[in-house]
Amino acid sequence: MIEINKIYNEDNIETMKKIPNKFISGIITSPPYNIATKRKDCYYDNGYSNIDCLNEKEYLDIRLNEFKEFSRILDDCGVICYNISYHKDNPILPTLLMANIHNKTDLTIADIITWKKKSAIPFQTSPTKLSRITELVYIIVKKNHLHNFKTNKEVSKINEKTNQKFYKNYTNLIEARNNDGIICKLKASYSEELVSKLINIYFPENSIIYDPFMGICTTARACEKINRNYIGSELDQEHYQIGISLLNKVIK
Ligand SMILES: C[S@@+](CC[C@H](N)C(=O)[O-])C[C@H]1O[C@@H](n2cnc3c(N)ncnc32)[C@H](O)[C@@H]1O
Repeated sequence: MIEINKIYNEDNIETMKKIPNKFISGIITSPPYNIATKRKDCYYDNGYSNIDCLNEKEYLDIRLNEFKEFSRILDDCGVICYNISYHKDNPILPTLLMANIHNKTDLTIADIITWKKKSAIPFQTSPTKLSRITELVYIIVKKNHLHNFKTNKEVSKINEKTNQKFYKNYTNLIEARNNDGIICKLKASYSEELVSKLINIYFPENSIIYDPFMGICTTARACEKINRNYIGSELDQEHYQIGISLLNKVIK
């Protein structure tokens, strides 16, 4: 049986085998982007290159298989916040993944949020590509609940004659720090600020949020700080151990 508020140092498929159907309120995560593929100019170990050199089909099959399990463990009205960027050799990969999810699972995209970071990567070597200061966060839900998945959106007024509800304005632009400034092997962590802003839109207090790619526990740290439950999986032992020690500081 799964324990909540615990991070498992294992492949996410193993963790999900322990999670009952419809058990989690949602997912906030960022998968490997497959950015190590054919990369010759990489001047640092990005933290997961040993599991990131996949061809396009292998990458899509692995992610799709995970999404089938996400769907099984997700509450019917639950939400998946999936932050993914792209490698310069294959910028279409996230789009292909989203098309696969829509075509081959009972999930679909409900919204696309742009995360605007505080700064772009400073070293620019491309004569053609733009400096990336944004990444996307795909909001994925069950097709049957495309119009009634759970959010924290608050009603601002109700038209007395028609009963039409009007909601406070929540825009699809989130401005948040790139990361939490933790220097370690993993170069692809996001920030507690991003996670907290997503939680505030989609997850009420005491929700159970799963992060299948927990990295250095950014999702769990944000959950601890604002009273949400979490479950995590992290394959890499070094990321896991750094994550647990950062998380323990927050819990104390
Ligand atoms: C983009 S990073 C996520 C970083 C995380 N959001 C953070 O802020 O620390 C992806 C992470 O997924 C882990 N990972 C890759 N494949 C995995 C799998 N099958 N199961 C569990 N973790 C995996 C990698 O080791 C890496 O730490």
